[in-house]
Amino acid sequence: MMMDEAQEPSPIDPRNRLNDLSGREWTYALRSVISTRYPTRGPEAYAHHLRRLHPSPKPPQLMAELVRFFTKRGGHVLDPFAGVGGTLIACSLEGRSAIGVDLSEVYAACYAEVCATLEIAPQPYIIGDSRHLQRYPAITAQRFDLILTDPPYAQMLAKPKTGERKKRGQGAATPFTDSADDLGNLGYWEFLSALRDLFANTIPLLRPGGHLVLFTKDLQPSPDHHNMLHADIVANLRDLPGLEYRGYQIWHDQSQNFYPFGYPFTFVANQVHQFILIFRYRP
Ligand SMILES: C[S@@+](CC[C@H](N)C(=O)[O-])C[C@H]1O[C@@H](n2cnc3c(N)ncnc32)[C@H](O)[C@@H]1O
Repeated sequence: MMMDEAQEPSPIDPRNRLNDLSGREWTYALRSVISTRYPTRGPEAYAHHLRRLHPSPKPPQLMAELVRFFTKRGGHVLDPFAGVGGTLIACSLEGRSAIGVDLSEVYAACYAEVCATLEIAPQPYIIGDSRHLQRYPAITAQRFDLILTDPPYAQMLAKPKTGERKKRGQGAATPFTDSADDLGNLGYWEFLSALRDLFANTIPLLRPGGHLVLFTKDLQPSPDHHNMLHADIVANLRDLPGLEYRGYQIWHDQSQNFYPFGYPFTFVANQVHQFILIFRYRP
């Protein structure tokens, strides 16, 4: 269904305590595949030329859609894996307040430069380890409506690429940081367990009825495991006290390149999508 801009906006249901969307906007936001091709140049690129310093920056427009669905104007958002600020920029655009945390001073500095370029006030950004958020009173002093975040995809980016991408000279590993505290430098099962511990401490920072929305990608299957990281994350988090798994949406990123993986021998998936996993906190 496409929104018809010519139609009058439909009213907001007075019982709606989640967001400021009309019934029509709500219905559109529920589509199971969000397919996008955001510009990487010009004002709609939101300083992509700076943000591309990061190996996996999230488009602010995409994060803004989620912010609009899972919060009301003036809502509070936490991103414990903030990178160069996809979530934080979205919150500035949508009139929400946010706090970001990331291990990397380089990404924090990049976010500050992006804000200066876009002429938006930077949201608070803590350089630190999100496994220990209780160290930061600025975070523990409030309750959030939404944790919107994009953790590492286990070790996906910390490993050199093989096959077609290696042949094309694009095989270098692109770890987020070289820190031992970086969850992206952990093996698959260690990563899952660290992520679970992190969210066990972080979920109680949500207000009752608040949401955890997180991005992830699957890894290629190996002989010993399917490596559907999205399914393993759900299985690992869904029994945290008060956390209810609500389902997922798929983000289809049309700007991703296709490679002839496996050609001419066997099927190898070319992943041009990510999973957006949605949980609600009902303590
Ligand atoms: C997929 S990226 C997030 C990108 C972000 N959404 C953006 O738009 O730039 C994951 C981030 O997690 C950070 N990270 C990894 N382990 C961390 C930890 N223990 N505490 C805080 N940040 C961490 C990495 O530095 C990296 O920037």
